[in-house]
Amino acid sequence: MEQQRYQFEYSVYDSIDELSQEDAALLREAQQATHTAYAPYSQFQVGAAAKLVNGKVLCGSNQENASYPVGLCAERVLLSAASSVYPNVPIETIAISYDSGQGNSDRPISPCGICRQTLVEYEKHLGQPIRLVLGGIKGKVFVIPGSTLLLPFGFSSEDMEKG
Ligand code: THU
Repeated sequence: MEQQRYQFEYSVYDSIDELSQEDAALLREAQQATHTAYAPYSQFQVGAAAKLVNGKVLCGSNQENASYPVGLCAERVLLSAASSVYPNVPIETIAISYDSGQGNSDRPISPCGICRQTLVEYEKHLGQPIRLVLGGIKGKVFVIPGSTLLLPFGFSSEDMEKG
């Protein structure tokens, strides 16, 4: 028997002002996209913005439904839009922000499990890591160099390949 350890490195910035111009601009886009959320049930508005390798920027936001499980997170709305509008164009970076409506959106949130699975599929399909820039309306910002880092032992198509 041996013990294994899983760890990864990410960057922690004290505020948006410490980011590169490009990352700061993308996080601002995500902050703006929170205003497009349809979140009458949770009042938790999430915005996401993607920078594609072709230079285009696309945004998404969470879209809820009276039948709660039907609702979609901002990340999956964004990934579906990106894949539909620019199929086969890898995504370089996704910024994610939120407004809890309580005036305390001052620390990063990170994607839920289903969104992590979706991000990993996108990364693997297009062969390029998707960086994540995670920040609230204010406060610290985390930069994670690739989405797969957030899903250790994830299931993927490789697991279905016959030996
Ligand atoms: N939500 C997102 O859009 N992204 C996340 O990373 C976490 C949660 C949404 C889903 C739901 O509409 C609301 O936030 C509360 O969970």
